[in-house]
Amino acid sequence: MDKYIIRGGKQLHGQVEISGAKNAAVAIIPAVLMVNGVCRLENLPQISDTDKLLHILSLMGAKVRYINPGTVEVDCSHVYLSDDIFPLTRQIRASYYLIGSMLGRFGRARTTMPGGCNFGVRPIDQHVKGMKALGASIGIARGLITAETGGSGLGGARIYLDKVSVGATINVMIAAVTAKGRTVIENVAKEPHIVDVANFLNSMGADVRGAGTDVIKVRGVEALHGGTYSLIPDQIEAGTFMTAVAAAGGEVQLNNVIPRHLECISAKLREMGVSVTEYGDSIVVKRDRPLERVNVKTQPYPGFPTDMQPQITAVLCQAEGTSVVTEGVWDNRYKYVNELRKMGAEITVSGKTAIIEGGRKLTGAPVAACDLRAGAAMVVAGLCAEGLTVVEDVVYIERGYQDLVGKLRSLGADIVSVSEPDLPDAPAEADAG
Ligand code: EPZ
Repeated sequence: MDKYIIRGGKQLHGQVEISGAKNAAVAIIPAVLMVNGVCRLENLPQISDTDKLLHILSLMGAKVRYINPGTVEVDCSHVYLSDDIFPLTRQIRASYYLIGSMLGRFGRARTTMPGGCNFGVRPIDQHVKGMKALGASIGIARGLITAETGGSGLGGARIYLDKVSVGATINVMIAAVTAKGRTVIENVAKEPHIVDVANFLNSMGADVRGAGTDVIKVRGVEALHGGTYSLIPDQIEAGTFMTAVAAAGGEVQLNNVIPRHLECISAKLREMGVSVTEYGDSIVVKRDRPLERVNVKTQPYPGFPTDMQPQITAVLCQAEGTSVVTEGVWDNRYKYVNELRKMGAEITVSGKTAIIEGGRKLTGAPVAACDLRAGAAMVVAGLCAEGLTVVEDVVYIERGYQDLVGKLRSLGADIVSVSEPDLPDAPAEADAG
């Protein structure tokens, strides 16, 4: 298994290029299934989740051509349902988007329950509610999801989502694109990647309006045609690098960002005494004085992103005083705190609230990446800890960050990725006799 070894204490200086948005890519690739033609996707992040999703499409008959790093052409002119995708779909959360795109393309869907980061129960009841409203019957049994429209295809509907859900918003939007008539989806999520998926669908001939507001309206079209689409930059990768500078100190320019998407993160870091200066498509983050304590509440966009919660908690371990972090989206997203405690962090967790007694230097230690963003938080903590930090299970980190080690090294961080062969199976017990 691969691991990262970090020697803390080095400031970060220089420039870093932010990659395409993971949570846009993992929705747009499944949505490509709806396109009866060739889609060219640009600024695609090179991460294991996108690799897996492109492999899933190829197992369904799509022709995938890698043009250059970050650019791929996918031809879904001749695609079909295939159970061969199941070993892959159960590994990633975003496989649930195949429900919407399969129903939209075939009027039928066969996939597995999704996998993904494990921080509490991750239901899909709102996805199911939306698909049923569009006229699908859905069965979930033995880990499989099957859906039918009985040959009549999907029909437009008015849907009110009981919970603000990124996944359900995108999944229902995808399915509604070729549903007959108009669909109105209310109480939707407004994350930047939702707008990006809507813009992708519209560039392929769909008619989606209102993405980024509380109500999305879709007028069904016969079919989607091919085209070219370039993804937005990754808000959370950018935010992660901003917290890395806040933790390690120094001055870094982040290129290929959309400052508006980072407003909440920038505001919180400024409150902590970090300087954030915005330019057109770049920002400069500088930390050259002690950090101030703050309180953070994670909320759906445009609130402080839940996917930045572990990273900001790692930074707050250094801020003088007591900080309070409240998780407003997930029920149980503090598993990583035990790993930070191994580095000397003093954090009390009660329900959805973490109380951080800051002002202490963390010390390097062997820690594990519990999930994607928890893993990123371990790296952020390792950058400012005294001594060596070894982060295990970095496979989680590499699901969502393109070349994190290379980018940090280019900024002066002392971090390496090492591969340790999987330990051989324990030798069979010697014969007792
Ligand atoms: C997406 O997950 C992201 N993943 C998550 O990012 C992110 O944390 C989350 O949105 C919130 O922003 C991807 O985009 C692949 P939700 P998703 O549906 O869609 C409840 C990362 O680090 N809910 O917005 O699964 C749910 O339990 C990952 O990149 C229902 O109750 O999240 C949660 O409490 C981790 N029923 C809340 O809504 C449903 O049918 C928000 O979940 C769906 C969700």
